[in-house]
Amino acid sequence: MSKPKVYVTRQIPDEGMKLLYEKFDVYVNPHDRVVTREELLRDVKGKDALLCLLTETIDAEVFEANPNLKIVANYAVGYNNIDVAEATKRGIPVSNTPGVLTDTTADFAWALLMAAARRVVEGDKFTREGRFVGWAPMLLLGHDVHHKTIGIVGFGRIGQAVAKRAMGFEMKILYYDVNQMPEVARQYNAEYRELDDLLRESDFVTLHVDLNEHTHHLIDERALGLMKPNAYLINTARGPVVDEAALVKALRENRIAGAGLDVFEDEPALAPGLAELDNVVIAPHIASATKETRGAMARIAAENVIAALEGRKPPTIVNPEVWKD
Ligand code: GLV
Ligand code: GLV
Repeated sequence: MSKPKVYVTRQIPDEGMKLLYEKFDVYVNPHDRVVTREELLRDVKGKDALLCLLTETIDAEVFEANPNLKIVANYAVGYNNIDVAEATKRGIPVSNTPGVLTDTTADFAWALLMAAARRVVEGDKFTREGRFVGWAPMLLLGHDVHHKTIGIVGFGRIGQAVAKRAMGFEMKILYYDVNQMPEVARQYNAEYRELDDLLRESDFVTLHVDLNEHTHHLIDERALGLMKPNAYLINTARGPVVDEAALVKALRENRIAGAGLDVFEDEPALAPGLAELDNVVIAPHIASATKETRGAMARIAAENVIAALEGRKPPTIVNPEVWKD
């Protein structure tokens, strides 16, 4: 019997690849770059499983190209790149990589928050350029983090992990979510606020929602207008949650103090003007990028493929309704 065929759209860490090579006939995009749409539509044909990245749009056209996929395993926790409703309609399981990147992503939200508030990147540039000529009373003044108010938008696993860290900084913790979670909130001393109130009260607003039709441009010009002039916006969720053009305008006019961004509305492109601003710290979507976590994500993605191809329910399926035992 020939082995099932798996298509991996870009090399992922060995922790996952070796599990796949042991069992399957694996085809990996040979280039160290995002696969093109043409390559995706061509190479998905005839495969039993697709292991893809958040850089690929997996929609009806892909399912038309290969109506026989037994799983789409996304190498990410977010899966807004996949038309899950379409997959579900066709009975195709979709999986993600939850849990393993929760703390890692929360750490990075903090890295951006600290870097923005304490001007770490500007300080690095300043020092390297040889402009540090001695201690100065007014050099690169930022804002305190400790004892300030942090507003967490989206109080899922990552939002809660951010709250846990905020406790160490003795911050006042506010959260907004579509669900109020009094039990969970108590653990972190977090108080629920409607979004507008959270924006008005917070010194740091950090986004941890998934991207869907309700969260698209959740932070728009109006929302930015509610923030305090000394407040910072941190986004490690998905770019389109923020109206990036409106954010550039708010930062340029110093209507908020700054921002820390790991994700962008039209990734990898940046909104015009963003990169010229000093009051924003920007990173290339690396919040989950540690050796440990990317390895664990690879293993989970591979385990989902293996389960589906061996007729078991994928452990982190996001559309369990398609799975009939
Ligand atoms: C990264 O952005 C992910 O969703 O895993
Ligand atoms: C998703 O929100 C996660 O924390 O894995």
